[in-house]
Amino acid sequence: MRSDYPWTASPFIVSAPMAKIAMPKLAVAVSKAGGIGFIAAGYHSDHLEDLLEEAENLLEGDEGTPPTVERCTTETPNPKFVPVGVGFITWSASLEKTLPTFTRYCPAAVWLFAPPKDFRDLIPWANKIREATAGRTKIWVQVGGVADAAKVVETIHPDVIVVQGLDAGGHSLARGASIVPLVPEIRDKLLELCPTPERRPDILAAGGISDCRGVAAAMALGAQGCVLGTRFLASPEAMIARGYQRALLDACDGGVSTVRTSIYDKVRDIHGWPEAYDGRGLKNKTFSDHVGGLSEVRNRELYREELNRGDEGYGPDGRLTTYAGTGVGLIRDVAPAGDIVKSLRDGARRILRGEYRTKL
Ligand SMILES: Cc1cc2nc3c(=O)[nH]c(=O)nc-3n(C[C@H](O)[C@H](O)[C@H](O)COP(=O)(O)O)c2cc1C
Repeated sequence: MRSDYPWTASPFIVSAPMAKIAMPKLAVAVSKAGGIGFIAAGYHSDHLEDLLEEAENLLEGDEGTPPTVERCTTETPNPKFVPVGVGFITWSASLEKTLPTFTRYCPAAVWLFAPPKDFRDLIPWANKIREATAGRTKIWVQVGGVADAAKVVETIHPDVIVVQGLDAGGHSLARGASIVPLVPEIRDKLLELCPTPERRPDILAAGGISDCRGVAAAMALGAQGCVLGTRFLASPEAMIARGYQRALLDACDGGVSTVRTSIYDKVRDIHGWPEAYDGRGLKNKTFSDHVGGLSEVRNRELYREELNRGDEGYGPDGRLTTYAGTGVGLIRDVAPAGDIVKSLRDGARRILRGEYRTKL
């Protein structure tokens, strides 16, 4: 994996593309720390070129950029290589609108998530992006099950499979397993489907990982690294309301304080997620009223009124959506994204070397 992303170090630490939150500042900070940061193109890919230009400017205009990252950015003049990834929610984003961007910029990877009907919908995405970037932009696909992973490998031949377990914050399959059984079972399946290592996609684990112990565990399960979403919400580089961040820091016991539901999409008028998906977020009044029988129409009205409360509208007694994974209880501080990457990587290395004693 390192040869495709030469500025990175093992274990691979990746910040997830999180719609409206993971923007160039976060992605660049993560890549500069030796991880891979993703920009969320999200539901629409309208401003992708501007976002990649912003990332490029952030990389160029900063003396703190490590030489390996710098070298990568100067390698290919056209399209220009940018050492960050871009994530698409494919049931809603448009490949046609997106493609022209790849004639100017060549991000390190694209991340394809949630096809409208079936994983075959992703074939044009993979083929056309590979063609536009002469294969320099690697294809990552996020899946939540063993059969889906097999289908993706057989149809798309991705470079990376992101194995998303049920603990993940934000959207994922409503039914499934945690990364504990998923990662090794998918790894076994890939060994069977792709006996030669060169053709075998790498595996990254996502969902519920918030500290170096989770990273080390994912490595032991057979992953080459981890994707974290919720942990990076608590960084100054995330485009997120202070009230949202405070609610994350206040939360504990993520299995109890978060829930998988689709009511948070409904009150925000987000329609169109394929049926198998819902989202995990902190429980709040929107959810408790929904369970208590409040109509969707009234719940939406109350949500809209709550927007006027700004930061005060977050938390268990608020109504504003606070997507988060079950690892939320392990997050105790807001820390620079680069520091998060380094502490996850260094801590996991120490654990894997057997140096884990009391507290890391
Ligand atoms: C606030 C939030 C927004 C997210 N938005 C996206 C998205 O736009 N596209 C996507 O592929 N995944 C999205 N995800 C899911 C992540 O890709 C990832 O699987 C998840 O964050 C991993 O679990 P964790 O949050 O427990 O670390 C989002 C997650 C969160 C928490």
